[in-house]
Amino acid sequence: MTPGIFDPLTLPNGTTLPNRIAKAAMEEDMAERGQVPGGALFALYRRWAAGGVGLLISGNVMIDRHAVVAPGAVVLERETPLVPFERWAEAGKQNGAQFWLQLNHPGRSIQADIGGRVLAPSAIPLDMGKHSKMFAQPKAMDEGEIVVVVGRFVEAAKRAQQAGFDGVELHAAHGYLFSQFLSPLSNQRSDAWGGSLENRARLLLDVARAVRAAVKPAFSLGVKLNSADFQRGGFDAADAQQVVRWLNALAVDLVEVSGGTYESPAMQGRTADQRTLAREAYFLEFARDIAAVASMPVMTTGGIRRREVAGSVLAAGVSVAGVATALTLVPDLPARWRKGESPVIHLRGPSWKDKLMASAATLAQLRRQLDRMGRGGDPVMDSSPLWALLSDRVRRWRLIYRYRSWLRQ
Ligand SMILES: Cc1cc2nc3c(=O)[nH]c(=O)nc-3n(C[C@H](O)[C@H](O)[C@H](O)COP(=O)(O)O)c2cc1C
Repeated sequence: MTPGIFDPLTLPNGTTLPNRIAKAAMEEDMAERGQVPGGALFALYRRWAAGGVGLLISGNVMIDRHAVVAPGAVVLERETPLVPFERWAEAGKQNGAQFWLQLNHPGRSIQADIGGRVLAPSAIPLDMGKHSKMFAQPKAMDEGEIVVVVGRFVEAAKRAQQAGFDGVELHAAHGYLFSQFLSPLSNQRSDAWGGSLENRARLLLDVARAVRAAVKPAFSLGVKLNSADFQRGGFDAADAQQVVRWLNALAVDLVEVSGGTYESPAMQGRTADQRTLAREAYFLEFARDIAAVASMPVMTTGGIRRREVAGSVLAAGVSVAGVATALTLVPDLPARWRKGESPVIHLRGPSWKDKLMASAATLAQLRRQLDRMGRGGDPVMDSSPLWALLSDRVRRWRLIYRYRSWLRQ
């Protein structure tokens, strides 16, 4: 019998999610000076925890202060003070949900205005058409740099456990470092880390294995993986299934299926395959195929806004429905669904020709809602995209200045 969205789910490590709705990772860009979580993030996660999700996954937390996706990103390294993370963990776990940190290294997906150490499998910059200059030129990693990155992921996972989080999720989707290694378009190495799929998956598998060995069995380990990059010649659905077969052997507790990269942003519902637009769970078919080969539960994220859709995700054999956008607009969506309500979720986004700017404006609109909740306010669905984008730019310059001055100290 198909489980319901409010049925608990026991993970392979024996721990339980109280229900099958997860808040998927969203970069909040709300860290305090020193790139640590503070009052605004505590308030935001308290709000989500009270809203009834079974699993909260943080926005991506950086494992290296010199490689961050946003100037307000949270960083977790060996030297980072743990008390702010303990308070963050406590805030998210209030209602019995599991709270995981998502760990990420952006690789080449770093905007030039932030700068830093831009490392990638190969020295191939992002191709963003007329916006390519917005991104930094990466340097191909040498063996020593790869070993350091593995160590940093392990260290961050151990410290997340120490701070009281229930698990970590490795971000191997969306064209960040793991995903760059996985794709033959961005990984053109001829050593043990490139070439065959086995070699391209080595970084992810080594990190997953090393993290699992370094944490307690009850500490959950998840992996967010692209179903495909949606780029000709890139990481595809068959590759994703094979990577999951390898992950089966590594005591991974959950695989989250997403898709796309900066160059082809399928996670926002824009894939080369227009048919996906017709669906309300963008990656459901891919996730179903992955669930067929996975020994761990599978979650899919992308497009889920209605209870019926979350139900159909479970009916397809996928164990967890991941929700991002809808929870920025209605943070207590699971509690509302439980009461039988069906809130209509519709963000009035921009209809601009420049897709990159339109998507930046939508993200800015959503981030504004996170910011509002961080201040104790309520989200709104009719914010102005232009105003959101402009104020996001100004805020970004201020945060870049603060981030750089912190780095210099
Ligand atoms: C503001 C924002 C920030 C995001 N940051 C992250 C992130 O840090 N890590 C990640 O894996 N995905 C991130 N995503 C992607 C979401 O997790 C999700 O895969 C995507 O938004 C599709 O789901 P949705 O349709 O429910 O929003 C972000 C999405 C948004 C809207």
